[in-house]
Amino acid sequence: MNHDAIAVIDFGGQYAHLIATKVRRSEVLAEILQPDDPTEMFEKYKGIIISGSPSLASHGEDSMYNKEIYDLKIPILGFCFGHQEIAKHYGGKVIHGGREWGHTDLEILRSHPIFDGLDSVQQVWMSHFDSVVEVGPEFEELAYSSMGPGTAEHRFAAIGSDSLRRYGFQFHPEVDDTTNGDKMIANFVLDICGCKPSWTMENYIGEQVGAIEKQVGDKSVFLLASGGVDSTVAAKLFAQALGSQRLELLHVDNGMMRKDESRKVMALLADLGLDSNLHFVDATSDFLDALAGVTDPEKKRSIIGQTFVDVFQREAIKLGIEGHLLGQGTIYPDTIETGGTKRADTIKTHHNRVPIIEKMIAQGKVVEPLADLYKVEVRELGEKLGIPHDALWRHPFPGPGLGVRLLCSDGKPENPGADQLAEEVSDAAREYGLEAVALPIRSVGVKADLRSYEHPVMLHGKLRYEKLLEASSGVLKDVSGINRCVWNLGQTLPRKMRLLAAYMTKDRLDLLREVDAIVMEALERHGVYDSIWQCPTVLAPLEIDGKGRELVIVRPIHSERAMTATAARLSSELIAELRQEILDIENVSGLALDLTSKPPGTIEWE
Ligand code: XMP
Repeated sequence: MNHDAIAVIDFGGQYAHLIATKVRRSEVLAEILQPDDPTEMFEKYKGIIISGSPSLASHGEDSMYNKEIYDLKIPILGFCFGHQEIAKHYGGKVIHGGREWGHTDLEILRSHPIFDGLDSVQQVWMSHFDSVVEVGPEFEELAYSSMGPGTAEHRFAAIGSDSLRRYGFQFHPEVDDTTNGDKMIANFVLDICGCKPSWTMENYIGEQVGAIEKQVGDKSVFLLASGGVDSTVAAKLFAQALGSQRLELLHVDNGMMRKDESRKVMALLADLGLDSNLHFVDATSDFLDALAGVTDPEKKRSIIGQTFVDVFQREAIKLGIEGHLLGQGTIYPDTIETGGTKRADTIKTHHNRVPIIEKMIAQGKVVEPLADLYKVEVRELGEKLGIPHDALWRHPFPGPGLGVRLLCSDGKPENPGADQLAEEVSDAAREYGLEAVALPIRSVGVKADLRSYEHPVMLHGKLRYEKLLEASSGVLKDVSGINRCVWNLGQTLPRKMRLLAAYMTKDRLDLLREVDAIVMEALERHGVYDSIWQCPTVLAPLEIDGKGRELVIVRPIHSERAMTATAARLSSELIAELRQEILDIENVSGLALDLTSKPPGTIEWE
């Protein structure tokens, strides 16, 4: 089936994905394209949306995109940076000024199809430094911001030209804080672009069943089933298309799974009726042998990815199924984030896109029936296929598993610029009535879309949670060379810390599994598992005040799509229980709660 579709031009990863998911909510397919993609690539779409960007339109930043898109006869809508670019292109003026941030009222000047069904005052979300202060002759002002109708910078919050079918919003309708953003996007997509809403899960299942049958022919499919949402939904879809007899499932225990995880995964797959050809291999020693002595986070990731490939190839030969096609639960953002876009941050290396798999893809030997879907859509599909709610709404768990949560070190201190950083950090924290030390380890973060590898800071003292968060972001802003703040849950701020030599070993993984299980059980017991998006537990080989070997860090976060995140609050009862259960464990030297948002910290510590 050919779907009417919208092209979303990606000027800044997270905005573009949000826009695409919102367009899809109105049952119209949206796909991400790049600013310099050739004009022919845009021709099949019924409309274009230009995303926001961290760049400044007033300074001509990011202006080298393919402007021939403006010659196309299809409607174009821009948000924020996109809005300013449209204004400029058609003779308007953009200045650096009129900054607005957060909720704002939008005053709509006249009824217009793009605001169809909405009241004349709308709550919208703004985040901009530049503003449109004049529009070209064919454009009109459709709405202004109530921040200041009298000031030029706050006019032109929405502009349009019905003759050209070009529109722009200064605000971000794609974020949930714009109350009726979905409706505005639907108005553009359905009414102005005239798209037929056919992007439904029922249609998708039918199409994919057909596509799988066609690609697989009379062969069978071999799929690695991790127990995660994506591979489980993919397995169920393959079974529907081919029958479970023509699906071989392999679950690999890589030694970095959660406590009791492999047993639970095997039971789930059996419950779903996927156990006709279900195989299990304990490959712990393959992985741990390959990781012996390795400390660098990206090197760990690439070794884990390669070992998965080695293990599945070896097992396929053992099972006599090496001629089967390889099934993968790759989802849409995975294909965009690795190599698919020039803007992608390369923080994680997806192991469904390592070179050997790329080669198999080129040979047509890989089947990826979820490659067009976002996570929310995969869950919707899973529901339609009868997968239980709990299995679909588990916290996401990274492919390399606990491997990226067990920090490794050769024991040589990662000297945090010693005295000067120590002084800056404690001065900054004192402003909030807290003590602080920089930890002699480093963790991965993301700053201005680039990867950073900097020191975490440990804060100590009693403050209300909101104040702690304020202190955390204040300290991170004031001091350079740090990318995270954690809050010490021990009695005193440790002054003597020693980084120990520690690698990926079974003993350390067992300890992490134990602590991680305590945290997960506590979240469930307190009924907050579902409201928290993900909660990594991390072990850092830091000896504190001469006791124990490992510092435990708990990182509960709220997020929508993992591109940004904020620290999630845990109740004081829950924290007290964690303190009691975790600090008592032999080999644990301390416990801290990560307060960092993303950016500047990533969700995982490496
Ligand atoms: P970060 O740490 O980049 O994580 O903020 C964003 C999301 O990605 C997950 N993650 C991974 N998933 N392989 C994966 O399959 C990886 O190497 C990897 N690293 C991070 C992380 O758990 C979070 O949900």
